[in-house]
Amino acid sequence: MFSKIVKSSAILLFAATTLSAANFNAGAEKDRIEAIKYFEAKFEDPAKNLNRFFPYSDEQELATKYEKGLKHMDFNIGSYAYAKDAKEQYEALKEMPPYEEAIEKGEELYTKKFANGNSLQTCFPDLTISGTFPYYDQKTKKMVSLTSAINDCLRANGEKEWDTQKGPMAEFQAYFVNQSKEAGKKFDIKINSEAEKKAYERGKEYYYSQRGYLKLSCATCHIDGAGKRVRNEILSPLVGQVTSFPVVRLRWAEIGTVERRLSGCVVDQGQVPPKDESQEMIELLYFLSYMSNGMPVDGPDVRK
Ligand code: HEC
Repeated sequence: MFSKIVKSSAILLFAATTLSAANFNAGAEKDRIEAIKYFEAKFEDPAKNLNRFFPYSDEQELATKYEKGLKHMDFNIGSYAYAKDAKEQYEALKEMPPYEEAIEKGEELYTKKFANGNSLQTCFPDLTISGTFPYYDQKTKKMVSLTSAINDCLRANGEKEWDTQKGPMAEFQAYFVNQSKEAGKKFDIKINSEAEKKAYERGKEYYYSQRGYLKLSCATCHIDGAGKRVRNEILSPLVGQVTSFPVVRLRWAEIGTVERRLSGCVVDQGQVPPKDESQEMIELLYFLSYMSNGMPVDGPDVRK
């Protein structure tokens, strides 16, 4: 009898802890699902939905230059999902992928020995985990991005850290991410504690905060603005926005990290971007990556 009571209360206790663990991501999950619904509604038929989503836009242009009937997974290629002309150029570029060389260089870097005999392979034995970054490190109580993890590995082994935006950092990431892509991995960001929930909320707040004299937020351009034209570019949607990095950008004429892209958007807002390895940057990336949960890891890729 006594043991029975102990057993059932142990089960109850277990149920209570798993329940609360599941709850930490409830708000984020709601955000993610709402975002998917919003973009699916917006791109169900842009010309038909002109009044609701594209006021002041040209109906003819919406009818002829935009794809229709888009679903969640279509957004994995950013604005190329809906911008017909840009997608054609994108597909032509993919015929001779300009990131192949970066993948090869990255593969060499993976096993290249440090002065102490270790290598990046020592720090990253599992090549299928790129969709789990950023994550919360319980020991250091800090958020870790792929970029900060790579530099932590270099520093811990007495090597010089890398530039966080290009060169070997972006090349090694091209190889690392490509391995997860080939293994069929998806974005799988976890929010399992109060600390992670707070980090997500700060990242989200950054995304929605208005900045600069134009009072623009990331959301102005990439939620409300997604599908609209800025100069000669069509704005990409929040959902699926980071799944293709690192990318070779024609404007850069080389491969670059996601931090390089995010910094560029902050600079365009007339602001000083947070440092690439700062908690602020990693939390922004955490929010963006959570919004891509369930979508395939698809980097490296090419962009205009
Ligand atoms: C004034 C509008 C504007 C604002 C504000 C802005 N961006 Fe962008 N962003 C762009 C344009 C234009 C591009 C290039 C076209 C595209 O892919 O969206 C871009 C591209 C991106 C991309 C690359 C998407 C891809 O598929 O290659 C990411 C990621 C991104 N922005 C994130 C952000 C974040 C995070 C913020 C806030 C810190 C932000 N942007 C603020 C205009 C903006």
